[in-house]
Amino acid sequence: MSSDPFKRLEELRQKSLLGGGPNYIARQHSSGKLTARERMELLLDPGSFIEFDEFVMHRCTDFGMDKKRYLGDGVITGFGKINGRVVAVYAQDFTVIGGSVGEMHAKKICQLYDAALQLGVPVIGLNDSGGARIQEGVDSLKGYGEIFHRNVLASGVIPQIVAIMGPCAGGAVYSPALADFIIMTKKSFMFITGPKVVKAATGEEVSFEELGGAEVHASMSGVAHFMSETDEEALLLIRHLLSYLPSNNMEDPPIVESDDDPERMDYELDDLVPLDPMEPYDMYMIIEHIVDRGSFLEVHKFFAPNIIVGFARLNGMPVGIVANQPKVYAGALDINSSDKISRFVLFCDAFNIPIITFVDVPGFLPGTFQEHNGVIRHGAKIIYAYSQATVPKITVIVRKAYGGGYIALGSKHLRADFVVAWPTAEIAVMGPEGAVEIIYKRELAKAENREELIKKFVKQYRERFANPYFATSRGYVDKVIVPHETRPLLIKLLELLSSKRALQPKVPKKHGIMPV
Ligand code: HXC
Repeated sequence: MSSDPFKRLEELRQKSLLGGGPNYIARQHSSGKLTARERMELLLDPGSFIEFDEFVMHRCTDFGMDKKRYLGDGVITGFGKINGRVVAVYAQDFTVIGGSVGEMHAKKICQLYDAALQLGVPVIGLNDSGGARIQEGVDSLKGYGEIFHRNVLASGVIPQIVAIMGPCAGGAVYSPALADFIIMTKKSFMFITGPKVVKAATGEEVSFEELGGAEVHASMSGVAHFMSETDEEALLLIRHLLSYLPSNNMEDPPIVESDDDPERMDYELDDLVPLDPMEPYDMYMIIEHIVDRGSFLEVHKFFAPNIIVGFARLNGMPVGIVANQPKVYAGALDINSSDKISRFVLFCDAFNIPIITFVDVPGFLPGTFQEHNGVIRHGAKIIYAYSQATVPKITVIVRKAYGGGYIALGSKHLRADFVVAWPTAEIAVMGPEGAVEIIYKRELAKAENREELIKKFVKQYRERFANPYFATSRGYVDKVIVPHETRPLLIKLLELLSSKRALQPKVPKKHGIMPV
């Protein structure tokens, strides 16, 4: 170390830039991953990063740790900008003791969180870590506990986005799980118990990828909201995602200049829904024809594909979209889609993002698997989330709106601000065939011409309920519109609702108990 104070600082700076050193950096690159510093550089606007605590070191001396002391202790923390807006970022450095989380590493993340909460700016985590630093014992666990507590404090106050870019094992998974969005790269994995433990406990042989790779979590478990091929893609996605979000719960989401005409009437929409109610169609087409061109960013794309959720813009205003996908299970609700919807609605509500719901729901998915695994308590979450949401809520009934699905998916009764229906809408307790079998059970049992009679009763039922006009006559649907009128109307309604204040009477309480 130089005795010249300026040189000494420069030497320390150079050293801290090196992380775990050239050999570990080469290893990181050869495994197809970028280093923490390279990731930071790609994530943030050029020259915007201000690093803090770069000379922090751990103070463990057990198990030879006194020889493994690195400046920064395996995590880079600081503030930078994304598209000109301030964000707090931490990036774990796998080249330093496997990015493992010890007391000081955790303290750096906690300090970042505390400052981000005070400033009201999003936290972005770039995770690449072997988990709790084993040599530091309970100090390391305490570090995690402190991080988790901050995740909870920050929930609903500032957006929290985590990219998993390497290992994320054991209790380490819970910080991302408490955040709002998880992006997993193809090189990453997340699990509570690793392959060795699984083998010992169950005899099952599984690889890291099979147990908790990006595909597993993006499509089966729903733990990951996005999946990316590379580190670069994940970092670009974070930048894109943030463009829809406010910096904190006291701000509105950023409105951008739109080059798509707000009055655009898309006549193709009029032919997208087949007149045969049993024929499926692609809900993506409807969403894409209505929102600002190219603005739809899907969340949870591969998980519960019977429901579509994501962000989009209408005349530059960010909105959250929830829609049934008739191409998968006829758009019926089930356990996973209930979780997907309720989580998304809660997020939008916390961050002042209006919710637009496109409904074509035949009801809940039948079957013992669904019942035995708790579709009742999962489905209840949708009702809870929509009911308590006070952001502008606009519902478009595209086709079927049957039973509990009708109520749950943004009905007037759960305080949607506006419910509009297309002429193809069918609003009833259940579909005609099922209804007729129940209400005419006795007549049908006695009838000689059963099939003919069913046809007659179905026709009568359809005339009564398989249209939007009965609900309109009761004021449950505010307006019936031709599909091509949807975009201009939604934009006008959003403008109207921009001054919405929550008037729902609130009974004083600590908090409700969401059915989880
Ligand atoms: C201390 C660790 C570490 C850890 C890795 N390293 N994980 N040091 N504590 N948790 C060190 C290694 O000893 C090694 O140091 C360097 O980091 C690189 O690790 P490798 O094993 O060489 O890398 P790789 O082959 O890529 O394997 C990565 C890995 C593996 C799969 C993550 O390291 C591993 O299984 N680590 C342990 C994972 C784990 O069980 N973590 C604890 C989970 S429990 P040297 O000096 O040899 O290069 C947990 C509880 C949290 O997290 C509870 C919170 C509530």
